[in-house]
Amino acid sequence: MSTQGKVNKVSVTTIRTMKQNHEKIAMLTAYDYPTALLLDECGVELILVGDSLGMVVLGYDSTLPVTMEDMLHHTKAVTRAVSSSMVIADLPFLSYQCSVDQAVWNAGRFLQEAGAQGVKLEGGREYADTVRRIALAGIPVMAHLGLTPQSVHQLGGYKVQGKNQSAAKRMIEDAKILEEAGAFAVVLECIPSSLAKVITEAVSIPTIGIGAGSDCDGQVLVVHDMLGLYERFTPKFVKKYSTLNKNIKRSVKKYMKEVKDGSFPDKNHSFS
Ligand code: KIV
Repeated sequence: MSTQGKVNKVSVTTIRTMKQNHEKIAMLTAYDYPTALLLDECGVELILVGDSLGMVVLGYDSTLPVTMEDMLHHTKAVTRAVSSSMVIADLPFLSYQCSVDQAVWNAGRFLQEAGAQGVKLEGGREYADTVRRIALAGIPVMAHLGLTPQSVHQLGGYKVQGKNQSAAKRMIEDAKILEEAGAFAVVLECIPSSLAKVITEAVSIPTIGIGAGSDCDGQVLVVHDMLGLYERFTPKFVKKYSTLNKNIKRSVKKYMKEVKDGSFPDKNHSFS
């Protein structure tokens, strides 16, 4: 779990320098050991143990039922695999909204118990104090603006945010306030590309986009979506880089056929 002795570990400094050098940042989610191992081996800079866990791994229809214990369990599996990527854990619903003390405590648990290097939380200026106190505790904190799935019922669904002028203006201000409060980066989810460009130019911390166009400093996707593993719902912004769903079904059907016709296991897969 310890990151001591690990070489070339991505840190907040790496991420900040990448923005300054106009180098794009790649972030993907992971929730388990084998996936985290693959992403780390590929050299992805940031691995997010997102609360999207609830939807793509645990089968809930939103992120709201995800608990701190769920998140800690999966973050531990991810950090066991990772040697160079920076691991960010998502603070789940009700783990930081009740008080600033609760937020600092839960953020700290991700570092102390699960070996993460930072946390992410959803929300704008109303969480500036929370971000400030978490950062003051020495915990890198990533902000999240735009479509914030933990507020799905307040937003009235998973919709593009910041479409009118006043919402866009407020989001630009929020990004600046969160930067000032100590956030080291900000996720921009499901907002017009033009707004993401303005925010990216207005703050000196990196912006990581998902459904926010190509002008952000980095991009993030849910790994199950981009690998084509989770097919129940695919948002417009997801590009599928693989069709694992089809490959897995094909393999499972072949295995079943071979079990049933007796061709598996053959001599090569048996002991004499
Ligand atoms: O939970 C998650 O995976 C996220 C990303 C989509 C940014 O918050």
